[in-house]
Amino acid sequence: MDYIIETRALTKKYGGKIAVKDACVHLRKGDIYGLIGKNGAGKTTLMKLILGLVNKNAGEIKLFGSENADAGRRKIGSLIEAPAIYKNETAFENMKRFSYLAPTTDDEIKRLLDLVGIGDTGSKKAGAFSLGMKQRLGLGIALLGSPEILVLDEPINGLDPAGIKEVRDIILDLNAKGITFMISSHILDELGKIATVYGIMSNGTLEEITAEDLKAECRSALKIVVDDGEKAASVLRSEFPSVEFEKYGEVISVTTQGADAAALNRALVAAGVSVYELKNEGMEFEDYFIERLGK
Ligand SMILES: Nc1ncnc2c1ncn2[C@@H]1O[C@H](COP(=O)(O)OP(=O)(O)OP(=O)(O)O)[C@@H](O)[C@H]1O
Ligand SMILES: [Mg+2]
Repeated sequence: MDYIIETRALTKKYGGKIAVKDACVHLRKGDIYGLIGKNGAGKTTLMKLILGLVNKNAGEIKLFGSENADAGRRKIGSLIEAPAIYKNETAFENMKRFSYLAPTTDDEIKRLLDLVGIGDTGSKKAGAFSLGMKQRLGLGIALLGSPEILVLDEPINGLDPAGIKEVRDIILDLNAKGITFMISSHILDELGKIATVYGIMSNGTLEEITAEDLKAECRSALKIVVDDGEKAASVLRSEFPSVEFEKYGEVISVTTQGADAAALNRALVAAGVSVYELKNEGMEFEDYFIERLGK
């Protein structure tokens, strides 16, 4: 398998505290990699490590198959945290200023500004932009130099639902044109749902799952709604020790593939548990993430 971003056991500590621990990233050309995790999970730090904005304490980074990460980084555009824009300049002037590393024609800058939806801001200074407009300008700046990969840290921060949809459409459009993405998010929002592969971060550790496997895993869940979740859980634990499940209040979500629904039902009823509902229903994506992101 050819990965264009690949890390091995990447680790970063701030002082004594581990921010990213043994992270193994596998990102292929054309992927939209959704990095999901709560505040402080290590998303920004992992992105900064890949971009070379902070130094790693241990591990390896390969970009485009090469250990020479600096060369690879030239093909990556990024938007990390709030974009550093010049408040007293227009969107166009900002783009012009940031294009010094990758000389860009005025027409191309105009095209990029249209693409990110701020082509009509004219003489308005960036300092007077809304948060959403600033995010769009940051996205435009990240697109300078025709990058092959865009690493975007919370690109929909501060956007309203319509803005989120627009940024999502921009990403899908660019992805269709061959740009690979790594995007971070707190929650599984509209952006999270376009990912082809997920990196789930919790306390600095990373767990990867493809969207396809995630779908399969969610589909395999058997949902049992009972009157007494605690009792149902203890019956299942004692009578079906090999069956794995999660308890959400009075809902039991069985994750073991091919569990015998009828046998589970009989055992629960025999133990005096009322079974209101029992069906092979995909676990919601949200449930899957909530379970893995930690409480
Ligand atoms: N410059 C720094 N100095 C010290 N500790 C830091 C620094 N940057 C991050 N950390 C710590 O590293 C951990 C991971 O932070 P990071 O910003 O990568 O998380 P995150 O997932 O991006 O969070 P958020 O969703 O809030 O953006 C946190 O515990 C944070 O406090
Ligand atoms: Mg962050």
